[in-house]
Amino acid sequence: MDCVVELEKHKTVDSLHSPSSLRISRVREQRKSFSSWQGASPRRRSASIRLVGRHPDVYEPCDDSFALVDALLADKANLVERRPKLCLEVGCGSGYVITSLALILADECHAQFFATDISQTAAQVTRETLSAHGLQADVVVTDLVHGLEKRLAGSVDVLLFNPPYVPTPEHEVGAAGITATWAGGDRGRVVIDRMLTMVDSLLSSKGWFYMVTLTANNPSEICQIMKKKGFASRIVIQRYTEEENLHVLKFWREDLAFDYDYNAETGGGGTTPQSSLSSKMSRLAFWR
Ligand SMILES: C[S@@+](CC[C@H](N)C(=O)[O-])C[C@H]1O[C@@H](n2cnc3c(N)ncnc32)[C@H](O)[C@@H]1O
Repeated sequence: MDCVVELEKHKTVDSLHSPSSLRISRVREQRKSFSSWQGASPRRRSASIRLVGRHPDVYEPCDDSFALVDALLADKANLVERRPKLCLEVGCGSGYVITSLALILADECHAQFFATDISQTAAQVTRETLSAHGLQADVVVTDLVHGLEKRLAGSVDVLLFNPPYVPTPEHEVGAAGITATWAGGDRGRVVIDRMLTMVDSLLSSKGWFYMVTLTANNPSEICQIMKKKGFASRIVIQRYTEEENLHVLKFWREDLAFDYDYNAETGGGGTTPQSSLSSKMSRLAFWR
């Protein structure tokens, strides 16, 4: 365990109203996962941090957030070796993920951290979470990376995104309140697909992009889209919860000489980018 473990009581969510019954039950499940989170699963190695701020409109860390941090932990040795100089999380919510990354890298790298969220309240909660851990980041309220393109162009070494990925009616995407944290429109892809168009211009030559997806998002198609843009991909974490089949995908420029051994839950290791993608494609096809 890399970080201090402590988690405060989870918020009450029964008053949430969303047309997405999937998401309501998911948020209820989230409450369960919080109360039994620490050390509950031998597979879960999440960096655990103290959440100091919360708000009914801000997404609290859930299985997807934990999976993303677990992916970073699984990749820790490689991340440290890369000595990232600039890390960015898009859609930072409570700040759990960017704070975890900063803690994971704290002793070994002197990276600069950026985080964005479309929600002013989320940005504030993220600042509080970072500050409670003695960390700092530039937290910007914006749509994805709007306004930061020039500043970040070609310089992001670690890019993180746990997007609003739940398939919903289109009008829920970007809606007010907590809905915007999960509503992903058609196949849950509306925000994801916008993000995919920005990765190439943001990532440095050695940059890595980690993104959470759901089976309904068609991760295999996402990998193909990114392949056309010159990115190799790999599933770093695949996790089945009661309601979701989550994957953390990792992308890197295909022209990088080689990938590395890794030790994630999906198994495998020491494969080339090409073989890693193709060997996973058959599996991707069978995702629920
Ligand atoms: C599923 S939550 C993830 C929160 C946090 N990263 C985590 O893993 O716990 C998605 C986050 O993306 C933010 N978001 C949604 N649409 C966005 C957009 N267009 N630009 C920036 N952030 C967005 C939401 O406000 C929410 O905080």
